[in-house]
Amino acid sequence: MREAVIDLGAITSNVETLRAAVGDTRCMVVVKADGYGHGAIEAARAALAGGAEWLGVVDLDEALALRAAGIDAPVLTWLHDPDADFDEAVAARVDIGVSYLGQLERAAAASGRAVVQLKVDTGLGRNGAPEADWHEFFAAAARLERAGRITVRGVWSHLANAGEAHDAAQIASFESALAAAGAAGLDPELTHLAATGGALRVPGARFDLVRLGVSAYGLSPFDDEDAAALGLRPAMELAASVVSAKRVPAGTGVSYGHDYVTTEETTLALVPLGYGDGIPRHASGRGPVSIGGARYRIAGRVAMDQFIVDVGDAPVHVGDRAVLFGDPSTGVPSADDWAAAADTINYEIVTRIGSRVPRRYLPGPTIPARRGAA
Ligand SMILES: Cc1ncc(COP(=O)(O)O)c(C=O)c1O
Repeated sequence: MREAVIDLGAITSNVETLRAAVGDTRCMVVVKADGYGHGAIEAARAALAGGAEWLGVVDLDEALALRAAGIDAPVLTWLHDPDADFDEAVAARVDIGVSYLGQLERAAAASGRAVVQLKVDTGLGRNGAPEADWHEFFAAAARLERAGRITVRGVWSHLANAGEAHDAAQIASFESALAAAGAAGLDPELTHLAATGGALRVPGARFDLVRLGVSAYGLSPFDDEDAAALGLRPAMELAASVVSAKRVPAGTGVSYGHDYVTTEETTLALVPLGYGDGIPRHASGRGPVSIGGARYRIAGRVAMDQFIVDVGDAPVHVGDRAVLFGDPSTGVPSADDWAAAADTINYEIVTRIGSRVPRRYLPGPTIPARRGAA
């Protein structure tokens, strides 16, 4: 057994908590990358149940998958192949995030009237029109809107999380972009700049809507404040059954390269999760694991399909549940612990868990209770 248990109720309640934290600001929940590994469709439904008004995804395929699952909520998508089929976006009522003039013209050439949200670069350096292009970009958008080819629903940008002074500079730059859009004759219904970090710590970055990703899944984007302090509950628990447990003598080399050698007679437990499942090999020798309520570290290297835990004399048996990370309030390691062990961020820990690991969903309030269930 290998599983990522996804608590949909946690996603719903995280979104409720976040909505309360940002006041009247509308909330988009970001379900790109298969809902940060939690399952895009299920996460989207749970987020909508918590009061999210919008869903955000990276590309059109992700947006169309939401529509194919019958999810009707407003969706914005923002990173397009040069030949992305905007006809499909229009037919599926998906807002197209547009970053440059040629892309705007392609959206306007789609069959039907495209709804676009114009992205400006205010200091992250990714996509979005740079300031030098704003005049031409907004003028073209206003012309195409007047011609009935597009509706400009939004103007937006993304923070670089490069410190308070940079946040303030990006807010000022975004306000200049909004002024330039207004001067060109645009009157967008939605302006947005902040993801979780800005939404929670930079009220001046909230504008009409905030785009919430990691926090909806119950993780904190901050180094100095964990999820519990933010009132959030991690939605993913990653676990597997111990598939082999054996006594070995002192001096036994463990896993490839024998980076770890037992120092006394001990029990080695084998856990069937490896880098093929998204467990970072970089966490070899360090990643924490909870078995039978006790916490251990991985012994030796993480392999493609498995790793070993030296459990000493603890009574660990085949079939015991090993938990890699989950909600630390239940006594198991957190995704933050794994991020520290692998020298990365909690975002990557949950998002990289691969499709070979089945997701098991704990129903949230989106799923009605079974009739007659106790
Ligand atoms: C454009 C955009 N908005 C919002 C988010 C959500 O960010 P976070 O997970 O920090 O809330 C992301 C994710 O990286 C993003 O790319």
